[in-house]
Amino acid sequence: MNKALLIVCLAFSLIARAAAPDSVYLFSYSTSKNNNKNGLHFAWSRDRETWHEIGSEFAFLRSDYGRWDTEKRMIDPYLMMGGDNLWHCVWALNEHDPVFAHASSPDLINWNRQTYNYVSPLDGCLKPVIDYYQGNYTVIYAVNSGKYYNVSTHDFKSYTPSTQIASYAYPSTSVIIHLAGGNAKGQLHRVAWSDVEKLIKAFENKKYRNTRNAENSSGDAQRFAGLKEVTATIDLYPERARPISDLLMGVFFEDINYAADGGLYAELVQNRDFEYTQQDKLGRDANWNASYAWKVKGDDLEFKIDSAKPLHQNNFHYATVSTTKAGAKIINTGFDGISIKRGEKYDFTFFANSAAKTSLRVLLTGRNGQTLASSAVTISGSAWKKYSAVMTAGMDDDSAQLEIEPVTAGVFSMDLVSLFPQKTFRNRKNGLRADLAQTIADMRPRFVRFPGGCVAHGDGLGNIYRWKNTIGALQQRVPQRNLWGYHQTAGLGYFEYFQFCEDIGAAPVPVVAAGVPCQNSGVGGAGQQGGIPIWEMDEYVQEVLDLIEYANGDAKTKWGKLRADAGHPKPFNLKYIGIGNEDLITDVFEERFAMIYKAVKEKHPEITVIGTVGPFYEGTDYNEGWALANRLNVPVVDEHYYVSPGWMIYNQDFYDGYNRNGSKVYLGEYAAHLPGRPNNLETALAEALYLTGVERNGDVVSMASYAPLLAKEKHTQWNPDLIYFNNSQVKPTVGYQVQKLYGIHSGTKYFPSLINVSEHKEEVRNRLAFSAVRDSSSGDVILKMVNLLPVGTKTKINLRGLPLKDSKALKIELTGNPQDKDARPKESSIEIKDQFDLEILPYSFVVIRIKTSS
Ligand code: AHR
Repeated sequence: MNKALLIVCLAFSLIARAAAPDSVYLFSYSTSKNNNKNGLHFAWSRDRETWHEIGSEFAFLRSDYGRWDTEKRMIDPYLMMGGDNLWHCVWALNEHDPVFAHASSPDLINWNRQTYNYVSPLDGCLKPVIDYYQGNYTVIYAVNSGKYYNVSTHDFKSYTPSTQIASYAYPSTSVIIHLAGGNAKGQLHRVAWSDVEKLIKAFENKKYRNTRNAENSSGDAQRFAGLKEVTATIDLYPERARPISDLLMGVFFEDINYAADGGLYAELVQNRDFEYTQQDKLGRDANWNASYAWKVKGDDLEFKIDSAKPLHQNNFHYATVSTTKAGAKIINTGFDGISIKRGEKYDFTFFANSAAKTSLRVLLTGRNGQTLASSAVTISGSAWKKYSAVMTAGMDDDSAQLEIEPVTAGVFSMDLVSLFPQKTFRNRKNGLRADLAQTIADMRPRFVRFPGGCVAHGDGLGNIYRWKNTIGALQQRVPQRNLWGYHQTAGLGYFEYFQFCEDIGAAPVPVVAAGVPCQNSGVGGAGQQGGIPIWEMDEYVQEVLDLIEYANGDAKTKWGKLRADAGHPKPFNLKYIGIGNEDLITDVFEERFAMIYKAVKEKHPEITVIGTVGPFYEGTDYNEGWALANRLNVPVVDEHYYVSPGWMIYNQDFYDGYNRNGSKVYLGEYAAHLPGRPNNLETALAEALYLTGVERNGDVVSMASYAPLLAKEKHTQWNPDLIYFNNSQVKPTVGYQVQKLYGIHSGTKYFPSLINVSEHKEEVRNRLAFSAVRDSSSGDVILKMVNLLPVGTKTKINLRGLPLKDSKALKIELTGNPQDKDARPKESSIEIKDQFDLEILPYSFVVIRIKTSS
């Protein structure tokens, strides 16, 4: 235990023991502050007169129901000790849903999974209270009309139907207590003093950890005032080398921040299918409709959206254009303009029909209206047909637009209007933007996870990412609302994801929903209580099995044939599949996860399933998720945590105590977050420092991916990200440099080492980190050192007989001011021998690559 915490605890226990009562009053309550989102609080008293709040507004339990912005509310919690020696808490969630929440706890500190229980009538569920009698719990609640009802249960899982009761039967067991923060309504309990002591310790502990985790470089001048250069000795133990995962460094791709359409997917026409709808943005943008990004220039041209004779039932809308005379144009403005490069060829394609022959000019025009490229297309026939033209750009322009100009009067319809550069990544048709894809490939990721994130499990059942909707001809793919508030064409679909993985030599790691939508869903029921109906689950399970056949099946199988038809007869060599994404671990989740997991395990034992353990490094979902993974022997689980640099500094040993024989970990989403959410040298160094611990535990942590990967400037919903971009530039961050250095300089064996630092203070010692790995394919040994201190570190490295092939080693150094956003690694060559000195600059990450002879 840390010294400061020890002193707090000792002082506390001395005071407490001096006059410790046997039992005290405990008051449980919530307040309406922060729209009722502050959770369950406690206060204690010896005499019911003087009350001591355990932390002001400190939450011992929070509601997990519904969306972050509007829900997650705990209204009128009611707490009681049950006949099963567990504390039971029920609470109202909002003013309208006919649902109450329940959670139980053995100690009021660790809480079991929450359930959200639907009741009738459909008139809200307010002020729920619990009554207990001989093994039976009755939950009594009010509804908006003023009537009262109850439901009964033995286990808080299955309930009797609601029964109306008289209003006088509603128990008035809650009391109002005057606290320092104001009057609060809640329940009084008589509990052992030791129970309250534990609550106080839990609060103090959390407070202490929060203070430590909040440390960042802005306080370094004060924190390290007077600190002189530190010295360190590092002894390597190559003879104790142990294997680590050869898949450790990968990428997490999610269609967030316009990462797909308008981003990695090279399509240049926005809303090419006229399928943008108000629903994409939940009605929040009146202009976001089927003609978004399209406009008309000139007179005597009517442009309207039709749906009478669609190109495909999945692509319902199309545009019909009528002109009485030539001269006007229909324009697509692209995604904030279209970036065109001189001398490059662009494929224009569209589906069109026209009863009479119609001639069109297709143009790319620059920001000043000048023509950059042009071509001609003639449409004839009233059936939908695909037309194409190739245009070569005469000039660069990052704000071009696509213009379609009828040369003759008449009427025609068009859909799937597309413009692709011929130079896509690896020149694939329907391919990826070459510069962005190359920037990802440069990180040498061993795997690519897709399509998310929250996008994988979706906002409500109807929004779950269904892989079958994203394959085949573009017109048959099903576009949908992207839960990050825009439109998803599915042009970048499962085939393209698999192809990209193959192109960059990374293992594909698709993540499918575990039969439940995002825990923060606000559509179609809140939270994950809206799991896929159990009677539809067989079909859903089959869909997951079909995905494996699509990826790996013989070209003669039903799904393997579709892959072959798309141009890839050979299997994609799928080995991993993620089921679920940081889901709430509820009964609804568990039932569905187990169904999918068991079916995949039975039918495809060759596939490694990756389960999920919630969105944090602790708490109910983490505990329940791990317990479930252990029960089911899930081979790998996906952990997520976005944390402060301070958390990374003080938790480098996070995986040291993990079970070496249990499920492996995929650290699927992580990043260091500072206030204001920059991606700067400080966050990058914190990640580099934490990754030394991940490498050390590379026998348990088999995969890791920073999140999110991509973000388009001006369209970013989440910061920080690894690679920012606009239409013509790619802007990798400092964090990217760290990921790339780890990707390129990864190893397959870990060399334990002993580090001695001249300063023993925790805040100094923990800001220095080291790891050593050996890459079996090159035979090179790679040392990584991080110094997050404002002073340099003089290091003596003892390689202890490592057979050196060369007296020179490659040194790569990333250093600067913590706030730097443009620090870049610098390479040099250094002299090394069995024992050598290395100066590690303040705020720096150093990689030394050594050639060895065995
Ligand atoms: O990475 C951004 C989001 O963070 C992911 O979609 C989600 O899984 C997590 O909450």
